[in-house]
Amino acid sequence: MAQDTTIDQVGRFEGQDVSLSGWVYNKRSSGKIRFVLMRDGTGTIQCVFVKSEVSEQAFELADSVTQESSVRVTGTVRADKRAPSGFELTASNLELIQLAEPYPITPKEHGVEFLMANRHLWLRSARQHAILRIRSVMVKAMRDFLDDRGFILGDTPILTPAAVEGTTTLFPVDYYGEQVYLTQSGQLYNEPLAAAVRKTYCFGPTFRAEKSKTRRHLAEFWMLEPEVAFLDLDGDMELAEDLVVFTVARVLEKCRPDLAALERDVAKLEAVRKPFPRITYTESVELLNTKGREFKPGDDFGAEDETILGESHDRPVMVHRYPAAIKAVYMKRDPEDPSLALAFDMIAPEGYGEIVGGSQREDDLVELEKRLSEHNLPRESYEWYLDCRRYGSFPHSGFGLGLERTVAWVCGVRHIRETIPFPRMLEKIYP
Ligand code: 4AD
Ligand code: MG
Repeated sequence: MAQDTTIDQVGRFEGQDVSLSGWVYNKRSSGKIRFVLMRDGTGTIQCVFVKSEVSEQAFELADSVTQESSVRVTGTVRADKRAPSGFELTASNLELIQLAEPYPITPKEHGVEFLMANRHLWLRSARQHAILRIRSVMVKAMRDFLDDRGFILGDTPILTPAAVEGTTTLFPVDYYGEQVYLTQSGQLYNEPLAAAVRKTYCFGPTFRAEKSKTRRHLAEFWMLEPEVAFLDLDGDMELAEDLVVFTVARVLEKCRPDLAALERDVAKLEAVRKPFPRITYTESVELLNTKGREFKPGDDFGAEDETILGESHDRPVMVHRYPAAIKAVYMKRDPEDPSLALAFDMIAPEGYGEIVGGSQREDDLVELEKRLSEHNLPRESYEWYLDCRRYGSFPHSGFGLGLERTVAWVCGVRHIRETIPFPRMLEKIYP
């Protein structure tokens, strides 16, 4: 009896008979031998059909079966040094589950528009598989990192009555006749959770109605957001640094074949070690000027500036103490220079831009009330948030790591649209 298994497990059955179910990836014929390259979601394996050793029907099917047809193959597992997985299958039978209609994505080159319109099918390709796997390994690594350090996962709401990161990128939603929004960040809810459990994090989808059509922006993206009581800006930067070092090391440990499939230069990832350089906003403006970039001090960095700052280092760089005027309302001011916010951005190398944004939070009630009115934010919506400053206010800090931007950098994938199974971008929501 042939054992049912999956391609990633065939090594355990060398010399034995197995049955595999999956899809036809490719096929070719050479005289009395037919090769069907099969994938099953865990890997790919070449199945060899020899005319004299299989039924006429199976031999015929190995030729007529179409790309992406679902099939079941039975055969003997043989070690083969030339095979990417190290094994191939000497087939004894081929059963058809469903004969696929002509498959739109063929081995020839396709344009991005076409691939995006067929995203649900594009996901079956080897490259997309590698990205999906690395994304999944990274999520687990980040959760492990925080869980092992005593963080408590506190899930924050997606439907929210108020803005976190400015009012220009809110997606409105009708909530029983009242206008609410899809969350831009779980941070405001993380702060009272930190008062309850000291170290907390949320990890979920966040939404920005970004009007920008760039390779770094999604309208829906996943953000990992830790928040820690009695942590200052320096501690916050160190936490972000440790998290990123740990996550990259996990990918190097678990995902070598996936990185190879993506032709990722792993030396670039191996360089991601502590310490990451820390430079002030003022120093980074000087750096931009020495690189011949005209940059007005006080402005926020654009994509091109971030690219230059990131490419100036072999590992992520942390820029801290930005002008408060260009940063969020909840950030604490630097006591040494109140025009600066105790904030940092982590900028990835190789032109991937900002992957983490964080800060120490304003913990003074009066200061924060002043800030809210300066920004014309409706005080009533934030009363609960202010309570953190009324009942045992405490220094605290946190950050948000954008999952897709970080995956893009680790995978060496230029555009963020390939780092999430079904990307939502400016006016794009199909499929
Ligand atoms: O810098 P941001 O806006 O920070 C916050 O939302 C804070 N409230 C987080 C916190 O302190 N808890 O966003 C954090 C990160 C960015 O560094 C970037 O990686 C990612 O989220 N990000 C986006 N990723 C994809 N598409 C977008 N439109 C993004 N906007 C932000
Ligand atoms: Mg930011």
